Amino acid sequence: MNPEIRALFPGAEEQVYLDISARALVPEPVRAAIADHLRTRMLRGGDKDAMRAVVEETRSSFAGLIGARPDEIAITKNVSEGLNLFGTSLPWEPGDNVVLCPALEHPNNIYLWHNLARLRGIEVRSVAPDGGHVPVDAMRAAMDRRTRLVTIPSVSFAPGFITDMKGIAAAARRVGAVTLVDAAQSIGALRTDVEELGIDALAVATQKCLLAEYGFGFLYVRRELADTLVPVHLARFGVALDAHETAYVDGELRYALGALRFDVGNYNYLGAAAAGAALELLESWGVGRVERFVRHLAADLADRLADLDLPVAGGRSGSHLAHIVCVGKSGGGRHYSADDPAMNSLHRHLKASGIRLAIRSGVLRFSVGVYNNEEDISRVVEAAREWRARRG
Ligand SMILES: Cc1ncc(COP(=O)(O)O)c(C=O)c1O
Repeated sequence: MNPEIRALFPGAEEQVYLDISARALVPEPVRAAIADHLRTRMLRGGDKDAMRAVVEETRSSFAGLIGARPDEIAITKNVSEGLNLFGTSLPWEPGDNVVLCPALEHPNNIYLWHNLARLRGIEVRSVAPDGGHVPVDAMRAAMDRRTRLVTIPSVSFAPGFITDMKGIAAAARRVGAVTLVDAAQSIGALRTDVEELGIDALAVATQKCLLAEYGFGFLYVRRELADTLVPVHLARFGVALDAHETAYVDGELRYALGALRFDVGNYNYLGAAAAGAALELLESWGVGRVERFVRHLAADLADRLADLDLPVAGGRSGSHLAHIVCVGKSGGGRHYSADDPAMNSLHRHLKASGIRLAIRSGVLRFSVGVYNNEEDISRVVEAAREWRARRG
């Protein structure tokens, strides 16, 4: 991307920031939108209709970003809420099953299924990963006619490989199951067309590649499917009413169209202001361009770290790679340290060299954002080379 884009992110010059998979650096226009929102609230109290209009703009922009329609998008506060709203609203029967690959899922896309096992008597079918990938064949083999839902990450939070969403969704459809995608790690970084992928639902929040704040997110649900679902949580904005939001109209309960029925109560209007500004930036750059850029930098990083004989997950660059590069042996480990003492030592050295990265599932995780540049990649490679040389 060009230097003017990087200049919108003052944090990009403060450090080598390779941690968008935890949270992005916030760009200046997002800070300004938040400040404007607060200023209006502080000086004039704010106008609810105007604030709701901002929410609707974000709904439309987000729909545009994934090839959906606005009435297929619910507003949520985070990924988990989207996953839960959708998961709990399906018409489960005891003995139905959900198929997932828990080793590659964030815990927030695991707990709810075990909770549904307790609440509704469903079966949780766990499939083992294959070399850091969600294995299409094993996922397919785990499905049967009692499979109601298959859930996958679009890109795993570690080691960060791209899931074959199309292949898995096609297999799910064949047994009459729906596909739910945890897209926390990809929306805003990778082009996404829900129709082309053949998926039924998708959840994301805005603090990562959507470049905005915590506490705001989106849930996509395919319109024909959403219209058949009974939302487990219900409040004013999920009800089809032509009255003011504070009016209670007795009579037949009608849900709002499509995914709008999943909107619950007032919105995080501050989060919407931030997301609106970020979505405007992404629209102006084009996500296709962002994707080419971040994948190019990630591929370069993977190849150059592999050249240093570091254990890059998945090896050299390839079609599996998105904007995340992991180093180390995946699987074990905790959040703040790797199992391998050498990786902990490398992590300490990189941190001391001004590089911001993460440890997830026992591996070092570098995640590239639109604000990074070739120089950032070179600084990581140089620091890693220095570490190697010191260790002899
Ligand atoms: C794949 C994935 N899902 C979910 C989350 C977080 O979920 P939530 O927004 O509900 O906190 C993260 C990261 O924080 C993630 O990487």
